[in-house]
Amino acid sequence: MTITRRELNRAALWLALAGMGAPLRARTQEAMPRWASNPFALGVASGQPRPDSVVLWTRLLPADADDAPARGALTVAHEIFADEQLRHPVARGETVTDASRAFSVHVRAEGLQPQRDYWYRFTCGDAASPVGHTRTAPAGGADVRRLRFALASCQHYEQGWFAAHREIAGRELDFVLFVGDYIYEGSNPEHAVRSHGTRTPHTLDAYRERHALYKRDADLRAAHAAHPWILTWDDHEVVNDYADDRDPAYTDPALFLRRRAAAYRAYFEHMPLALPPQGASMRIHDRFAWGRLAELWTLDCRQYRSHHACADPARDAGRTVVDCEELRDPQRSMLGAGQERWLAQGLAESARPWKLLGQSTQMSATGFDTPEGRSVWTDGWDGYPEARRRLLQGAADAGAHNLVVLGGDVHRHVAADLRVRPNDPRSPVVGSEFVGGSITSRGASRAAMDRMRRDNPDVQHARGDERGHAFVEITPERLQCEFRATRHPVQAEAAFATQAAFVVEAGRAGVQRA
Ligand SMILES: [Fe+2]
Repeated sequence: MTITRRELNRAALWLALAGMGAPLRARTQEAMPRWASNPFALGVASGQPRPDSVVLWTRLLPADADDAPARGALTVAHEIFADEQLRHPVARGETVTDASRAFSVHVRAEGLQPQRDYWYRFTCGDAASPVGHTRTAPAGGADVRRLRFALASCQHYEQGWFAAHREIAGRELDFVLFVGDYIYEGSNPEHAVRSHGTRTPHTLDAYRERHALYKRDADLRAAHAAHPWILTWDDHEVVNDYADDRDPAYTDPALFLRRRAAAYRAYFEHMPLALPPQGASMRIHDRFAWGRLAELWTLDCRQYRSHHACADPARDAGRTVVDCEELRDPQRSMLGAGQERWLAQGLAESARPWKLLGQSTQMSATGFDTPEGRSVWTDGWDGYPEARRRLLQGAADAGAHNLVVLGGDVHRHVAADLRVRPNDPRSPVVGSEFVGGSITSRGASRAAMDRMRRDNPDVQHARGDERGHAFVEITPERLQCEFRATRHPVQAEAAFATQAAFVVEAGRAGVQRA
């Protein structure tokens, strides 16, 4: 968190700002850079909506022609308004930033009203950012009748245009839930419609450059400016299929953790998050409440997970294994012991009827029946079956009737029932799952998904041949999930259609076609 130098209380602000045409001028006189080009080219964002606060973000991107940053610290002002016309300021403040944090700005805007729309902008010298819109969460005890959000993940820049974000930006939503693979570190020339233009990042500067490239996409910026985002990450924010301190190449863990530290730091510098990393560690798992209606836990499925089971000794990426004894080891964990306890306790204590888990991959089983036995993919939840069983059994024991798991990573739209023993009709359905497709990243064919469904009766719907996202709407009576999709690769002017829609009725675990 960068330092917020000054936060005025709201009453004083109303007085101070009343009738002032240019309220920022006096405060920013000492650092009044004149910009050759607008430094707010990466846009603005907000996130982590609470009843009384949101996190506001921007990052200044000075052009070569601007000498201002070379002078060191920049003072960036933020203003928050109660109206879209920016006539009614409710808060303002200043943040000092510099090159050590890539000129990023993180503001925890506090003292806000619950369930309210706000507009905000940043200024620095003679430059002003675009105006962003955000919305606080309802008060914890509020009788909330509706929650609406978008579920999105997996946006490989090279494999398509971010047209999905244009649709997301245009919708009325409470927030965007993004569950990982915000950037991709690697390239895959297949289906490429544009290029990263740089090599695979390993250093802080290279990860910063990759994040900046993604944020230069106008559609992505629009989705950030339109709604607060709630985020967790998956693997590609660092490197494909990493697990804790191990990457696929078995790089010396100390060396790999230096890369992970760089990746986490660049991630933080580009996101509306409040807690910066400490070296190679960063707390991203979190909890959000929506009145008395719903509670959302965002999970970290990468940082604390056990290494892959039955790993290839030459290259430890996820792979398909048959008859792997290690899978049954109860010590192995997807979330790590601390996060598992935190989640189990939260689920047990929560009185809110809808319990949502935002996490990065598919929880329902996806293995295949082969003559040699069941084959499973080791990087997803199938690779951590005991951890999955503990989570689902714990939720069932806690009486969490409306558990809904929301995921990404696998580049397909999925609707599935969740049982403590997957695909076993004698094991009751204890939860429901939706995977929200992928913004651009390519997925599996229809034939492969049909086969997967044949061997996994819990999966009611699986399409990997189209790209997209999902819109979720929750009321006290039901949760509805609408899968939005377009062809692959995603073209710039792509339009989206509803591929399928499902509901979960309150008090009845399992997905049903709408
Ligand atoms: Fe992905």
